[in-house]
Amino acid sequence: MTSQRIYEELGNPVSASEFAAVTAAIVANIEQVIEGKTATVRLALAVMLAEGHLLIEDVPGVGKTKLAKALARSIDCTVRRIQFTPDLLPSDVTGVSVYNQESRDFEFKPGAVFANIVVGDEINRASPKTQSALLECMEERQVTVDGVTYPLQTPFMIIATQNPIEMEGTYPLPEAQRDRFTARIAMGYPDAGAELTMLDVHGAHDPLYDLMPVSDATMVRRLIATIREVHVAEAIKQYAVMLVNATRESPDLRLGASPRASLHLLRTARAVAALEGRDYVLPDDLQALAVPVLAHRIIPTAEAQLARRTTDAVVAELIHRLPLPTDRQRSPYDTRSRDARGGQYDPRR
Ligand SMILES: Nc1ncnc2c1ncn2[C@@H]1O[C@H](COP(=O)(O)OP(=O)(O)OP(=O)(O)O)[C@@H](O)[C@H]1O
Ligand SMILES: [Mg+2]
Repeated sequence: MTSQRIYEELGNPVSASEFAAVTAAIVANIEQVIEGKTATVRLALAVMLAEGHLLIEDVPGVGKTKLAKALARSIDCTVRRIQFTPDLLPSDVTGVSVYNQESRDFEFKPGAVFANIVVGDEINRASPKTQSALLECMEERQVTVDGVTYPLQTPFMIIATQNPIEMEGTYPLPEAQRDRFTARIAMGYPDAGAELTMLDVHGAHDPLYDLMPVSDATMVRRLIATIREVHVAEAIKQYAVMLVNATRESPDLRLGASPRASLHLLRTARAVAALEGRDYVLPDDLQALAVPVLAHRIIPTAEAQLARRTTDAVVAELIHRLPLPTDRQRSPYDTRSRDARGGQYDPRR
């Protein structure tokens, strides 16, 4: 796609200083509600800016739903929430054609995915049929009902939560569904200090209800356009391919990462680089993202499962073992010519 078309679709990229200001405001806003989880909050934002979908998987009561709602509330855009239950129908998700007596014609009633941010709570409680209704929406950003295709909005992000422990009455997400999530994050328990603050701040009143949007859909589209311009050197792309190939060849894994995974890895790396004030990706970005982006879509062999090796551990070990791209000067990964960079890169620009 040419740059011209991107700008028509998304709007113009913002300056580095504006990018920093808007993203810092969004993170600070979410942190009014979620205590002590800065890294998780930033990763969730990176996934949104990488045009991805987020799976938040953890035990009950650690703030999964809270994080999803806080991110959605921080952006002034259309938000829908779906509570997944076994009797939820595919048409509740995508929409349905109903017969209109007056016009004597069928008209389309859009389902819950017609929004910028869709919070899908406890996604593994829905039947496989309803889960798979999400497949087309997530990858192709469109819905087809009765042969007619309806495009979804931009940004479009699904933030799904699920509890990995409860088995009864749940349907584990199929592989194709997991692969569509750009990243899976665990919340983890807050540390003692953060939990104390939570008791003080959230004890009497839920701050989520006071949360005001600090950005809007138009700005998010421009932030996305900015991310797309982040430079990825040839060596970085090769490193990403090497990483996903290593998962395909690993003796501990029955299913390795897909080409979709390598795309998601690079996109998220661009977003993370931009959030750190760089306009080029470092190998460290890929290393930091390998577990959240790859681990949920690969399957361990029976032996690895018996030895209780998690896919997180397998991916972490691969990163450790693979050689890094060697050239390590100040910014070896900014391989553009000086002209293309507009002179030397200045992070304060
Ligand atoms: N790190 C945190 N900071 C602030 N509040 C938190 C944190 N962790 C949990 N809480 C609080 O705990 C309560 C439960 O959170 P939430 O409903 O988001 O949990 P959940 O992970 O979605 O649980 P479930 O799996 O049962 O749906 C909320 O009131 C939330 O504010
Ligand atoms: Mg919840």
